[in-house]
Amino acid sequence: MYVQWSPRYVLGNALLDNQHRMLFLLCRKLDIAIKTGQSAQLIQRTMVEVKKFAEFHFISEQNLMLETGYPETEAHAKVHSSLLIDLQVGFSRIGHKAEFPEDLLYFLHHWLVNHFEQEDGKLAAYLKDCKVRPVGESLYAEMYASFGNAPI
Ligand SMILES: [Fe+2]
Ligand SMILES: [Fe+2]
Repeated sequence: MYVQWSPRYVLGNALLDNQHRMLFLLCRKLDIAIKTGQSAQLIQRTMVEVKKFAEFHFISEQNLMLETGYPETEAHAKVHSSLLIDLQVGFSRIGHKAEFPEDLLYFLHHWLVNHFEQEDGKLAAYLKDCKVRPVGESLYAEMYASFGNAPI
């Protein structure tokens, strides 16, 4: 089992944590699709889900940085762009059967965790003490409170 959410990935920001958790959930779905021998078409479509949500998440995160004047916005956004390229390369290797799915899952786990712990960890620390608050900051916390204990 390579792709598995753990409480140690919590960064203490409702937007980041909610979306990171969803990203893990989709990667876990892909993990299950591969390991239960689903069709190539279904695996392909699940990879699209992961990629689209990753794009969405990176835009949300970049908006958050712009809203709060994060000084490393540009550098962080560049890392996002290269992460999306890495993801696309990994997915197309699977599509062309040039890589074992298990290698992709191993890659995905590190792809997620490294970025959370490095760049996103720095952003979460900045947001904690930042005087300029993000637009609609309480919305994610409200969502978390209402769905927090729901089964996913
Ligand atoms: Fe990020
Ligand atoms: Fe992130």
